[in-house]
Amino acid sequence: MTDTQTFPRNIVLVGFMGCGKSTAGRTLAARLGNGWRFVDTDTRLAEVAGCDIPTLFRREGETAFREREAQILSGLSAGEKLVIATGGGAVMHDGNIATLRSAGLVVWLTARVDVIVMRTERREADRPLLAARGDTPLYTHILNLLAGRAPFYQQAAHLIVDTSDRATESIAAEIERKAIAWQKS
Ligand code: S3P
Repeated sequence: MTDTQTFPRNIVLVGFMGCGKSTAGRTLAARLGNGWRFVDTDTRLAEVAGCDIPTLFRREGETAFREREAQILSGLSAGEKLVIATGGGAVMHDGNIATLRSAGLVVWLTARVDVIVMRTERREADRPLLAARGDTPLYTHILNLLAGRAPFYQQAAHLIVDTSDRATESIAAEIERKAIAWQKS
């Protein structure tokens, strides 16, 4: 079912922090089998940089982080049979949207803001852009960031899958089903 005639070359997952890109991506790659692999750009980036993402933000700042992220995306976009989970802000960097769309099918994973809050608040320290919110309540901060980013996700994505209140298997199955339909269209 996953040869290049019936399936996109790669599947790229974009979307806000806490929308399930890594969880659904890992499950999707396992479900597809047949040589498909899961790649998380944050994990790749941390390996290349030799430190975790919060440390990288502290040491080099967001601009340098975005440059490194763009390089990794560009390298991955030439691959095949990859389910690529991107960082939540990847679509904001100049040129990344074209890179992502050249890789294959881009799926925007969404979730309600209350769901994103619930999923991110426990490990907020791992996400520098949430940890830096000062006195702003998490809900408001996420709402503000999302408002600025939504047009970019929209521009990047071929299709949308909502992940609120859903089991990972069902999200992965929906992405697979929609990917087959998209490839046919
Ligand atoms: C970021 C999201 C994070 C990570 C970094 C910046 C963002 O990835 O890339 O902290 O700008 O939204 P996740 O979306 O996987 O949490």
